[in-house]
This record gives sequence, C-alpha cells and structure tokens, in this order.
Amino acid sequence: MSQRKKLFIRTYGCQMNVYDSARMADVLAPLGYEACSAPDDADMVIVNTCHIREKASEKVFSELGRLREHKDAKATRGERMVLAVAGCVAQAEGAEIVSRAPYVDIVVGPQAYHRLPEMVARAARASGGKGQGVLDTEFPVEPKFDSLPLPSHAGPSAFLSIQEGCDKFCTFCVVPYTRGAEFSRPAADILREARHLVGGGAVEITVLGQNVNAYHGAAPEGGAGRAENWGLAQLLHALAGIDGVRRLRYTTSHPRDMDEDLIRAHGEIDSLMPFLHLPVQSGSDRILDAMNRQHTADDYRRIVDRLRAARPDIALSSDFIVGFPGESDADFAATLQLVRDVGFAQAFSFKYSARPGTPAAMLERQVPQPAMEERLAQLQALLGEQQLAFNRSKLGLTMDVLFDRDGRKPGQALGKTPYLQSVFVTGNLRGQIAPVRIAGAYGVSLAGEVLQETALAVAS
Ligand code: SAH
Ligand code: SF4
Ligand code: F3S
Repeated sequence: MSQRKKLFIRTYGCQMNVYDSARMADVLAPLGYEACSAPDDADMVIVNTCHIREKASEKVFSELGRLREHKDAKATRGERMVLAVAGCVAQAEGAEIVSRAPYVDIVVGPQAYHRLPEMVARAARASGGKGQGVLDTEFPVEPKFDSLPLPSHAGPSAFLSIQEGCDKFCTFCVVPYTRGAEFSRPAADILREARHLVGGGAVEITVLGQNVNAYHGAAPEGGAGRAENWGLAQLLHALAGIDGVRRLRYTTSHPRDMDEDLIRAHGEIDSLMPFLHLPVQSGSDRILDAMNRQHTADDYRRIVDRLRAARPDIALSSDFIVGFPGESDADFAATLQLVRDVGFAQAFSFKYSARPGTPAAMLERQVPQPAMEERLAQLQALLGEQQLAFNRSKLGLTMDVLFDRDGRKPGQALGKTPYLQSVFVTGNLRGQIAPVRIAGAYGVSLAGEVLQETALAVAS
C-alpha cells in the first residue's frame, strides 16, 4: 500500500476547473495522496489556473512565489513538496512557467491531467527538489475521460463535465486555445458517472461544458430513439430518469445552441431547475458581430421569450463584457436596454481584457480604462437593482432549498433555491432539501427559516 501523502489543490476559474480539480485528486489517490486544507505542509500542491482575463492569470505567478516559500521551508527540513501548475494558464503559458518559475515540478494542461501519476513519478526521480518543469500540455480531450476513474466522492450537489472545448472562437476569448476543440462525451459514460454520483450521495447534478448546449454525444447502444447522437435535451431527459436525481442544472450555454428541444425540456422536466445562465455579452448588434457571437440582441430576446413560454418562472443569468474594442456610448446604451428588457435574477459583468493571441486584442480603438470603469459601474448598478428586486420578490414565500454546505457562522447552513439564490438558515441541514420560508432578502443572498417538521432527509 502507498504511503499517505497530503495533497492541496487551489482552484481558480470556472466550474470545469472545480470538476477537474476533483478529478486530479481522484487520479492521484492511488499514489497515496489525500486532500488537505492548507498548502503549508502539503507533499504536493496543484494550482489549477484560469487564463480568461489578465487579472486571473496574473495571480498565478504571485501565488507560485508564495508557494515557493513553503517548498523551500520543507526542503530545509529535508522534505519534498511537488509543485504543479494545471489548468488554462498551464496550457497557454506552459513554457513561460517553466522558465520563469523553475522550481515548479509539473506543468499540466486541462487535457493531460490523467497522466499526472507518471508525471509525479518523473518529477520524483529529479534530484534535489529543484523542479524539472515536467511539461505536458497535449490535446485532444478524448483520452482524458477514457482514463479517469469514477469520482471518489460527491457532495449533495455534484458537477459532471459532459462536453469540453469550444469551436465558437468569440474574438475576445482564450478558451478555444486553452481547452481545445469541442468534444462531447458518450451519453452512456455520462449516465454511468451520474449513477455513481447519486450512489455517493449527490441529489443535484450540474452538467458542465464550455458550450454545454452544443452537446452531441454518442447515444447509448440500444438507447431510445434512432439518432446516433444525443443532444442536451435528450441527455437531460435520461438523467432525470435516474432514481435519486432530484435536481438538474446545466452550464454554460450559448444562445446559438438553444434549440427547440432544449427550450421545451424546461417545461417538461420537473427536476430541471428554473434557472438558466445564458451569456449574452452585449446588447449591441455591431459589437455582437465584432465579437463573432453570431446572434443579434433580438435573437436573444426571442430565446428568452420562448424560454418563459415553456417555463414561466424561469430566472435568467448572464455574462457581460463592457469596453470591447470600438464600443461606443450608443453600443453600451443598447446593453443597458437589453438588461432592462430581459430582467436578470443575477449576472456577471467584466471589463474587457485583451488576451494575447485573440483577434480582438489586435483591434484598434481599444476603450480607455476610465470609460470602461464608468460603464461597468453603471451596468453593475442596474444588474444589482434587478438582483435585489428578484430576491425581494421571494420574501414570505416558501421554497425548497438544497443545503449543500455549512455556513460561515457556526450552526449555520447554506443552500440554494431552485433559482440558484443562496439562502442561509440556522440549523444542521447539510445534504437535505428542506422547505424554507424566506424571511430576509439582500443583494446576493436570502435569509430563511426552516419548516423543520417537513424537512426531508436525502443524505446517504
Ligand atoms: N463558454 C462561456 C464563457 C466562458 S468564459 C460562454 O460562451 O458563454 C466566462 C465569461 O468570461 C464569458 O462569458 C465572458 O463574459 C467573460 N470573458 C471571456 N473572455 C473575456 C475577456 N477577454 N475579457 C473580459 N471578459 C471575458
Ligand atoms: Fe469563449 Fe465564445 Fe467559446 Fe464561450 S463560446 S468559450 S466565450 S469562444
Ligand atoms: Fe478560465 Fe479555463 Fe475556465 S480560462 S474560465 S479555467 S475554461
């Protein structure tokens, strides 16, 4: 049996990175690595990185500088810390990491981490713990999923990657370069993983992909329908049929792939939660075109209308970029108008960040920082008002809340409403779905009172 070792993983970026971090822990478990909660004393540290905006990738080198101190401190005690950089910065700037931070032992891209055990072995053979920069940033996606073990444990709410990569090439975005070409996992593999997660205690499954609604995986053999591939709607119907799946979600979607079957699924599948994150980026057709989004602002409005016809209470979320090159005051006003027209329950908004190698970074007429900041503040004020109004609209109502984590204060539990609002209550409810009366509504969360006698225990 392998000797026990401590593994610390720091995760930045999107939910796919959260999923990948858990899977990296799974592939390293047979080597004796067990998760720990601080890097100080760990035998191995993985920084799972995000390259989406400049700020995100800048963090990596300062984080590595701090970790180096722990590594050096261990070395003076005659112990070894294996330091690995994973994720999208590893993919995009692998060679630079190796040269700028030579104490890093392993640089592994998002499609290569199933090979971590052999990389750890190679790094261990390197003497002196100086780091050898064992670098593996190969594509494609397919072999990774074939070589991953089933997830070792699931919380009440689990992520499941079903699709990876992106072929859309929005002109501002690094994802097609860091994650590679679009790939959909076969439906049978996904269903097997989902059953395994439910067996491990999950009651909610969020299927993930950079373009999750572009899903077109191989249909299970002998499965329903004659089609060779399943779309996301068919997959969601099959997932909903698994005993124990109480809640389903999917993220992140692209407006272009919101097909009729998927929209209808929102009205047909009870366990599909009435919440959708559907990034629009801008409300100006001119900017949407320059972004290569391949839809107009009105296309987006129409999709929202159809979604609301299928599921009247559906709550919407989105991503926005302000200050894309060439964005005028009129373009920005069109974004504010779209926000007013749609009404969002929550949303993320970012200042445009020029990313090396993307077409938009080469465009002239980059918007000056002060104008971007001003627009971001305006947009966030409007989105904040909408979120508060949405939260307040739930005051006094009773909603089912899935408690998936402990709250910050002792004796507090944190959960999510069907509309993905965070709710905190007093009580020990982790792993349960309980009816909660909403007693307080704030900017980004709700306070609730549990109707204790009707709480349903669902934890395994
Ligand atoms: N696949 C998702 C987006 C993933 S990135 C989609 O297509 O919607 C998450 C969000 O980061 C994007 O929706 C976008 O709003 C933002 N983003 C991506 N690249 C950016 C950049 N260069 N500058 C600022 N924000 C960016
Ligand atoms: Fe990036 Fe566009 Fe692909 Fe989303 S659809 S990951 S924003 S290129
Ligand atoms: Fe970031 Fe890569 Fe996700 S760039 S947002 S971690 S796909």
